Amino acid sequence: MTQGPLTTEAGAPVADNQNSETAGPGGPVLVQDQALLEKLAHFNRERIPERVVHARGAGAYGTFTLTRDVSQWTRAKFLSGVGKQTETFLRFSTVAGNLGSADAVRDPRGFALKFYTEEGNYDLVGNNTPVFFIKDAIKFPDFIHTQKRDPYTGSQEADNVWDFWGLSPESTHQVTWLFGDRGIPATLRHMNGYGSHTYQWNNEAGEVFWVKYHFKTDQGIKNLTQDEANKLAGEDPDSHQRDLREAIERGDFPSWTVQIQIMPAADAATYRFNPFDLTKVWPHADYPPIEIGKLELNRNPRNVFAEVEQSIFSPAHFVPGIGPSPDKMLQGRLFAYGDAHRYRVGINADHLPVNRPHATEARTNSRDGFLYDGRHEGAKNYEPNSFGGPAQTGRPLWQPVPVTGVSGNTEAPVHAEDNDFVQAGDLYRLLSEDEKGRLVDNLAGFIAKVSREDIAERAINNFRQADDDFGKRLEAAVQALRG
Ligand code: NDP
Ligand code: HEM
Repeated sequence: MTQGPLTTEAGAPVADNQNSETAGPGGPVLVQDQALLEKLAHFNRERIPERVVHARGAGAYGTFTLTRDVSQWTRAKFLSGVGKQTETFLRFSTVAGNLGSADAVRDPRGFALKFYTEEGNYDLVGNNTPVFFIKDAIKFPDFIHTQKRDPYTGSQEADNVWDFWGLSPESTHQVTWLFGDRGIPATLRHMNGYGSHTYQWNNEAGEVFWVKYHFKTDQGIKNLTQDEANKLAGEDPDSHQRDLREAIERGDFPSWTVQIQIMPAADAATYRFNPFDLTKVWPHADYPPIEIGKLELNRNPRNVFAEVEQSIFSPAHFVPGIGPSPDKMLQGRLFAYGDAHRYRVGINADHLPVNRPHATEARTNSRDGFLYDGRHEGAKNYEPNSFGGPAQTGRPLWQPVPVTGVSGNTEAPVHAEDNDFVQAGDLYRLLSEDEKGRLVDNLAGFIAKVSREDIAERAINNFRQADDDFGKRLEAAVQALRG
């Protein structure tokens, strides 16, 4: 901001910012005190709706550096040429808490990454876990209702959480992950990120590959125990946000090694799992991770509201060479985010500095709407036109994929090991004895809070099906707590 006197929004000097103008020394306040009225009115409008999920977050700019050329699998330009660098913006978040909630809680963390590429912004809107609680978008609002505040009590209720999870066995893998040590990261720098969904890559020749993204922290994994988190959440609710900002301020730039798993398109039909099921990983032994780059965060936003609160990320923001898969969760998300942005930030949200392309420009025929800044000046706003306006390319970003069947299907295709428990069991079995103990204690402490035996029993039964030992230990721990 330039130097000079305090002014009104219209730039006129303000004479007195301590006293309202009155009719005589003790008289009522005058409507002609426009500086007062403008100040009160602007204050009333400082808030925009918080995100319906992932409201609590922190962000930073950074650089993605490609360390392996992957143009054999995708024609995306930012993924071609070793050493290529792309500016990024990453917003971390918790899922269930409101805007002012504490950072040190057991919850997945959002890992929303915007690549400002020369072919448009590519958003990878992932989490710090490779899987999710459900596998169909139609269940998402119900799921989130159980994580948020109960309509009667106004608090999160163990009954609602465990009722839904118990009745949704596909959640068992993600819940096992969440109540393990990685469910409360020590900082945002000490956790991995995952694209989670399977996405499509396609190369210059038009060949299709399915891809999963992994961001492995170079700081090492560090977590908080439940007791440590309970204490920290009370003493320093902003712990994660502050840690990230301060690390970047002192030049201790956090980084992640970027890996992908690649599946040739033809494998999808015969793979032992449905490769588009978001409750499953692709085991590393089947599709080994391949290192392709480095992500570093190196610049703090200058204004949190403008750049973090008003930032928008959409799984539908693709660039040439990258596209969606038939994952039913992803398909629902392709709608949900743009819709949320138009409601939360407005129809010109894409024009804000943090959201607009940085390495190219947006050339659309959309115009006007609230807070339109007139960037297109007098340019024609229709296509086709004979005035040299932007024209369609004729080449889709992604390749079409074959489908079969009849409309009205609700079932997913069946693969040999498509059950809801096998990978939850795999995760349990890879944990150390100590971690198994903490996992069981964390789960038992929460399940013991439910008011009905049938809800507790259904919840425990899912873990029993994942692994018999897991189920037995959990049942004993819950019984010990419930008496
Ligand atoms: P691998 O042994 O090849 O890989 C195990 C994976 O588990 C590693 O990525 C490791 O991450 C991660 N891991 C280790 N400890 C924990 C923990 N306490 N909580 C969460 N994740 C942990 O086995 P598979 O690929 O066959 O996968 C086995 C299970 O591992 C899966 O069912 C899944 O639950 C979990 N997993 C698998 C991932 C995948 O993409 N295949 C990714 C993350 C988890 P790290 O290398 O950082 O230690
Ligand atoms: C935020 C919907 C599943 C990661 C949001 C928002 C909505 C939403 C409406 C708020 C957007 C905004 O106001 O800007 C959904 C729906 C889902 C779903 C309908 C299921 C069908 C997922 C999954 C992941 C995820 C599976 C991760 C793999 C995120 C992240 C944010 C977010 C990281 C915060 C983005 C930011 O920082 O601005 N989601 N979500 N969501 N979601 Fe989802």
